[in-house]
Amino acid sequence: MTEPFSAVDVIRTKRDGARLLPAQIDWVIDAYTRGVVAEEQMAALAMAIFLNGMDATETARWTLAMISSGERCDLSAVTRPTVDKHSTGGVGDKITLPLAPLVAACGAAVPQLSGRGLGHTGGTLDKLESIPGWRAGLSEAEIIQQLIDVGAVICATTPTLAPADRKLYALRDVTSTVESVPLIASSIMSKKIAESAGALVLDVKVGSGAFMKNLDAATELAHTLVDIGTQHGVAVSALLTDMSTPLGRAVGNAVEVAESVEVLQGGGPADVVELTVALAAEMLALAGISDVDPARVLASGAAYETWCTMIRAQGGDPDAPLPRAAHVHLVPAPETGILTHLDAYAVGVAAWRLGAGRARKEDPVQHAAGIICRAKPGDQVEAGAPVLELHTDTPEAVPAALAALEGNWRIGGERAQSGPRVLDVIRGKLG
Ligand code: URA
Repeated sequence: MTEPFSAVDVIRTKRDGARLLPAQIDWVIDAYTRGVVAEEQMAALAMAIFLNGMDATETARWTLAMISSGERCDLSAVTRPTVDKHSTGGVGDKITLPLAPLVAACGAAVPQLSGRGLGHTGGTLDKLESIPGWRAGLSEAEIIQQLIDVGAVICATTPTLAPADRKLYALRDVTSTVESVPLIASSIMSKKIAESAGALVLDVKVGSGAFMKNLDAATELAHTLVDIGTQHGVAVSALLTDMSTPLGRAVGNAVEVAESVEVLQGGGPADVVELTVALAAEMLALAGISDVDPARVLASGAAYETWCTMIRAQGGDPDAPLPRAAHVHLVPAPETGILTHLDAYAVGVAAWRLGAGRARKEDPVQHAAGIICRAKPGDQVEAGAPVLELHTDTPEAVPAALAALEGNWRIGGERAQSGPRVLDVIRGKLG
């Protein structure tokens, strides 16, 4: 086949700061998926985009080309309104686990196609795989059947869903080109639009533990995501939420499942409950379900029942004991006072070094590894009492985890004002 463009010309166009033509974008994504554009050429183009950006028209076309690299799911057999949530990634962000069964228990269908963790942010599939027997890989037919029977499914993306993004995301991860608004927005939205849910709520994280470290950058990303969804006829809202300190007390895999179950059983940390209910309310509003209060459904235990059914439907045993780490190292408070600062990024890196995350895509994770924050910012701590519990099966990893935490938590005399988790909401307008 004669190729209509040359990769070198496309790279040069963006390297020199010009706009890519729609036909160039369609070709480069398709040729990369076919293996005609080499990895090193796409790496150079990703870096040129990282440095010179893409405007709204280019980003929309890039997203469409990535959707067209695979097939869209057909959810027409699902009669309930379909709505999904996507988080841009954070530390201790287990919200999908209680949220999907909660929204299903409120009457919507939630097709939550998720990923694995890489670097300091955790992955939903890694967390759920700590449940004995639970299976991440489902066919499209199984996904649809589970949406009809249970109303919620959390599973791996199917191989035919935006395959260009799968290749490109792995490449960006090893070429330091992840934190680019057009590349993040097109990556997320290509998968979510191909998934075909009728509505989407985005949890755009802001702070040290997020890709977007400040509110301006996160707001720009949120607007870009919402605009792409709107252009594709998907009702989208974005909640900007704080990720400067870990969400909840548990960071890792099995420890986050345990905390999610606490939330589903009516307990759990207040910030996890607050964000779960806020996201559920937004999802239900977009799905057109206005007469159900998610906080009441959560408190009633109905969401926990849906969780158990959802886990069993994928081969898991919701009653089985979760894995426990062979070694627990306690980090004590050096003095009495108030914990004024606990940095999300540092805790994420420490949990990753303990074995909760992976350095390379093919690495296994330790299901029991992670961190329990016995204190959160604003809590009183006593000298000698544990502030953090480090869980690992490989105790030789503890010094590296302690090094990541060094200087990243503080005890002071004054209780700092803790702000709200939800910082802003941006809603798309369908015409
Ligand atoms: N999540 C994604 O799916 N893609 C990105 O680029 C960043 C976060």
